[in-house]
Parts: sequence; structure tokens; C-alpha cells
Amino acid sequence: MTNRIIPTAIINPDAPPESLEAKQPAIDNGAEIYGKSGYFSHEQVEQEWQKIWTDSWLIAGVSTDLPNVGDYFLFKVRSESLIITKTAEGIKAFYNVCPHRGARLVTEERGNKKVFVCPFHSWSFHNNGELRSITDEDTFQEAVICHRPGLTAAACQEHAGLIFVSMADQPPALADVIGLPEGYLENYQIDKMRVVRHVRSEWGSNWKVGVEAFYESYHLHAVHPETRGVMGDLNVQYDLYPHGASRMIVPLGQPSPRQADQTTVNEGLQYMLQEVGR
Ligand code: FES
Repeated sequence: MTNRIIPTAIINPDAPPESLEAKQPAIDNGAEIYGKSGYFSHEQVEQEWQKIWTDSWLIAGVSTDLPNVGDYFLFKVRSESLIITKTAEGIKAFYNVCPHRGARLVTEERGNKKVFVCPFHSWSFHNNGELRSITDEDTFQEAVICHRPGLTAAACQEHAGLIFVSMADQPPALADVIGLPEGYLENYQIDKMRVVRHVRSEWGSNWKVGVEAFYESYHLHAVHPETRGVMGDLNVQYDLYPHGASRMIVPLGQPSPRQADQTTVNEGLQYMLQEVGR
């Protein structure tokens, strides 16, 4: 049998154009080779910090990770630290900075606190950001504290079970930044999923190296040869959306076209079938 290699695979050629699985029109990003300075230039790092990390929206976590009022986790980006916390009015984000002298308010990665107490001079704050108490308040001049300094909020919105935050004063519309068709993310039902393990992975590289490694299946045969029996690595549908989002539809439960034997129910397929009770 000759292996069939499909460089621009379409999972379902009959998918209606308005459906979420429909192949998107190709976006020609040109043939210019991306300059290597993009991986080490300090100037570019600063531009990315402004345009991507602070002016846009970032996924901070999933909503179901904060089931109870008072639950919180820290979201750190470069030198910034945000407290993502479930308040009685919903999920909010605050800079992890005490308004008194700028101390880090919270150091534990996650937990449940309805009141945050600053470790420096023990001012305290409700988890909705409002000031709760000032230590030795009567020793302060009224003019210094009459505005009742609370925590500084960052923009925070939930969408499809994901928590998005932005450090911009006036962030762009979230739906525009996500740029996916309506209902796309909702299909994953992330709001019904539960986090079972938190994993932090630190890479000694520019962040783009990691992102780029995860948006192609080209490396599967070389880096993950054990997937050959169960992943159609050459039949992956890639789609680019106008505002920068992309997606891959990766066929699971079918052998790689790189593999000669396309008919045997191999060990990997047997395992997958057993997992679904077949
Ligand atoms: S810096 Fe937080 S109470 Fe002083």
C-alpha cells in the first residue's frame, strides 16, 4: 500500500462553510523567514511586553479552579503578579501589591482567603479589593488615608470556562482578541472540567520556542514515535483565524499515514478501544 500524504488535510470536506470544523480560507503570511533576533532581541522583548503581555488578554486559568468564594491563585507574568480570586460578585483580578508601601501581599501560590493581610505592616483587604483595616490608623493624617486605599484591579473576564486578564487600562474587546467563531470555545465545555493537577514547566528559552513547538504535528514521528499507531499526524487540519488564533484538528485513533500497516488494530488502538469499553 502506498502511504497517502496530505499536506493540507481537510478533516471533513463536506463540512458546511459556516460550521466550526470547516476549513478556513488560507491566510498568506508571506515567505519571509522570521528573523533570529526575534528570539533574543531585548528591543523585541519590550515590544512584546507592551503589545502582547500587557495590552492584550491572557488566559490566567480556568473558572472551575476557583469553586468557592475566597479561593484564589496567583498569576505571574515576568515581574507582575496578579491575585485571581473568587469574590461574592464573581472572579476578579488584583495586582498582588499592597497600596501602602508596595509589598507583595500574597506569597502562597493558591489557597482560600476572604481577607488578605499584608506581611509588612498588616494592613488588611477584603478579597473584593476593598480596604478592611489600617494598622494604628489613628497615627495617620486623615488626608493620607481618606481615600481608603484598596487593591488595584486588573481587567478580568470569564469566557467559556476560561479566566482572561489584561493589564491594559482600556483593553480591546475580548471577543475580537480571541477571534474565533461564536460558540467555538464553548464546545470544549471547559466550564464542566475539573483541574486534577497543577504543573509548572520552566523552559530556558524564548517563549515563542515553546508556542511554536506546540502548533505543529510535524515533529510527532521523530519526537513521539510511540504515537504512530494512534495519531494521523499527516492528516492534521490546520486553520488560521484573522486575529492570530489558530487551531489544529488532530485525528486520534487512526494510524499515521507514515506507517505501512493501516489495517491492524495495533496495541495503541486496542488500548484506546478498551478505554471506551470496546
Ligand atoms: S506595605 Fe503593606 S501594610 Fe505596609
